[in-house]
Amino acid sequence: MTLSAPAAMNPRWTWLPLDRSGSASAEPLVREWLGVQLGGPGAAVPIGRDPRGRPWLGGPLADWDCNWSHSGDGLLVALGQGIRVGADLEWRRPRPRALELARRFFHPDEADWLAAHGEQEHAFLRLWCAKEAVLKAHGHGLSFGLDRLVFADTAAGLRMQACDPALGSPSDWTVRELTPAPGYLGALAWRPRGAPAS
Ligand SMILES: CC(C)(COP(=O)(O)OP(=O)(O)OC[C@H]1O[C@@H](n2cnc3c(N)ncnc32)[C@H](O)[C@@H]1OP(=O)(O)O)[C@@H](O)C(=O)NCCC(=O)NCCS
Repeated sequence: MTLSAPAAMNPRWTWLPLDRSGSASAEPLVREWLGVQLGGPGAAVPIGRDPRGRPWLGGPLADWDCNWSHSGDGLLVALGQGIRVGADLEWRRPRPRALELARRFFHPDEADWLAAHGEQEHAFLRLWCAKEAVLKAHGHGLSFGLDRLVFADTAAGLRMQACDPALGSPSDWTVRELTPAPGYLGALAWRPRGAPAS
């Protein structure tokens, strides 16, 4: 496989339609896109899975990382070099229990912010995507605890304000909010590969 892509800290990403009517898995589509990005056949991209199910890239791509998320009929895929990246995609549907869920699972400061927000369901989903993207980059997934990382809204979008030391330092993390397609919200989160965390 030719590593033709230039080294860059910012992940590249794509949104792809995913037909979920059958038992279609996302991985073949992911492979196809990764192959195009990396200059080789998708079938040859060395994708492994860690014990928690997180995908990783091996062999000559060991310095690269990818992650993907599916929701509704969409697939969000991210790829980066020298970073650990997480992706989350959420189909926008009514979420009348948004505040109740936030009070139960998010940090109290975030739930308070949501309670004062005019568009609660949208704000809830933005927070959810940002948090899940970070937890997927980290690799432990939601079971790590959505309340162990705290976001605040800023002029530049959601920014991590505090987190459990197991995630490293908030300043290690970059989060990019996305509207990848009409009716969907998403987020990418990444941090340099060398950043200390467990
Ligand atoms: C991983 C997790 C965040 C996925 O959430 P989701 O909203 O259902 O799914 P998404 O569409 O956003 O992401 C699914 C993709 O994330 C990836 N993924 C799976 N486990 C992952 C993990 N631990 N970390 C990061 N990414 C993971 C996979 O590529 C998966 O796609 P696939 O089903 O096509 O293989 C959630 O299921 C979770 O937290 N699981 C707990 C992980 C865990 O502790 N597992 C123990 C098993 S022993």
